[in-house]
Amino acid sequence: TTIPQFAQAMPVPEVLQPVCDLGTTSYYDISVEEADAEILPGRTTRVYTFNGSFPGPVIKAVSGRRVVVRQTNQLSVPTSIHLHGAHVPQSSDGSPGDLIAPQGGSKIYTYPNEQPHANLWFHDHAHHQESETVYRGLTATYLLTDDVEQRLNLPSGRYDVPISLRDARFDDSGQLVYEMVDFKSRNVQLANGKAWPYFEVEARKYRFRLFNTSNMRFYTLQLSDGSSFQQIGTDGGLLEKPLDVTSVSLSPGERADIVIDFSRYTAGTKLILTNTGPIFPGNPVDQVGRILQFRVTGPATDTSVVPSALRTLPALGSATVNRSFVLSIDETGATGDMYINGKTYDMDRIDTEIEYGATEIWTVHNGDAYTPHNFHIHLVQFRVLERNGQPVTSGPEYGLKDTVALMPGDTVKLQATFTGYEGTYVYHCHVFDHAAMGMMGNFRVSRSTT
Ligand code: C2O
Ligand code: CU
Repeated sequence: TTIPQFAQAMPVPEVLQPVCDLGTTSYYDISVEEADAEILPGRTTRVYTFNGSFPGPVIKAVSGRRVVVRQTNQLSVPTSIHLHGAHVPQSSDGSPGDLIAPQGGSKIYTYPNEQPHANLWFHDHAHHQESETVYRGLTATYLLTDDVEQRLNLPSGRYDVPISLRDARFDDSGQLVYEMVDFKSRNVQLANGKAWPYFEVEARKYRFRLFNTSNMRFYTLQLSDGSSFQQIGTDGGLLEKPLDVTSVSLSPGERADIVIDFSRYTAGTKLILTNTGPIFPGNPVDQVGRILQFRVTGPATDTSVVPSALRTLPALGSATVNRSFVLSIDETGATGDMYINGKTYDMDRIDTEIEYGATEIWTVHNGDAYTPHNFHIHLVQFRVLERNGQPVTSGPEYGLKDTVALMPGDTVKLQATFTGYEGTYVYHCHVFDHAAMGMMGNFRVSRSTT
C-alpha cells in the first residue's frame, strides 16, 4: 500500500502544563504508556508515548527555574528517561542502567536548569532497549529559554515551531516494524509524528527548531527551490550570529534552529523540505528525499527580527588534558559488536576518569570505512575546535554542541569543561542502534583525594 504524501497537516506538539508551580520549581507528571496514533492518513498505529502523544509533548522551561518531572512507567519494559543536552546531577541523568521498573514504577527527575537556553529533548536510554523504545515513540521536546534569548525579537508564539524528524518502517497493517540496524527499509519520513505532512505558513518569517530523533538517519535538509534560509542555533542554543545557508545537516540527536522567511513567496506557493542526506541502496528517493511540504497561505504582518548578533559564546578557557577516542564496528558484521577504543560498553567499568573542573580536549575519530557515526557527551555542552585538521571558526559547528557528526574517516577535536556535578555519565555514538550494540563508555567526574 502506498502512503499518500502531503495529505495530512503537521501538528504542533502540545505544551505540557505543570501540575503545580511552587516557589522556583515547576512540577510535571508524565506517564510513559502505549497509545494509538494516526501517523499514516486514516490508519492507526500502536506506539509508545509520553502522556499519550506521539511524539511527546513540549516542556517549556526557563534558566534558573527548576523543573521536576515524575515519570511513571506503564510499559512492560523498564525505561530510563534521559534529557539530552541537559546539565544535571547523575541521579537525574537517566543513565543506561538507572531504570524505572516497568508497569507502574516511577522516578522523579530534577532538572536544575542552571545552563543557558537550549533545545533539549527527552528519550529513553535503558541500555539495549533504547533503540527500540525510541523507535516506537519515546521522544519529547524540552525548550529551555533565558533572558539572552528572550531579549531578541525572534519569531515567537505560533511562528516558533518545534519539528521532530525521524524515519520509520510500516507493515501492511500500518504497524511499526522494528529491526536492529534497519537503514534499508525505514523509508517513511515523519515530521511531528505524521508521514510526509504539509504545514500551512503565512508569508512571513518562521522559526523552526529541528530535532533529529531518528535511530540512524542522517539528514541534509534543503528547500525544494534551492533558496537560502538562516540557521540561528544549534544543539546548545543560538549561534553568535545567523548564518545564511541553503542546507542544514543533522545526525541523530542533533538540533538546528532555523528561520525561513516565506514573505518572498506568493500565496499558493508549495515548497518541499527535502533530504539529500545519505540514501542507502533500496531507499526510494521520492520517499527518503522528502520530509514535508510548506504551503504559503497569504500575506501577514511580521515585526520579528533576526539581528546580526545573537549571543556571545562563553570563553573557551585553556585545556589541561588531551584524550583520544576511536569509534569502530566490526564492519564484516560477524560479531555485531561496536567499540570505543576497542571496548564495548560495560556499565560497571569506568573508561575515563576526569578531575572535577577540568577543561579537556578530546580527539574523536571514526575509524570505519563506510559507517557514519556521531559522538554525544552527557553533562556538558562542548565546542568543536577542529574538523579533519581544519580549525572551526565559523559555521554551524561554531556554537555550543552536545552531539557531533563523524562521517567515515572523520576526526574532530572537542573541548569541554567538566564542572557542576561529580558523578558517572556516558559518552556514545547517538546512532541508537550503535549505542545499544556497545558504542558507549563511562566517564567519572570526581575531585581527586590526593
Ligand atoms: Cu540523546 Cu545518551 O543521549
Ligand atoms: Cu555509530
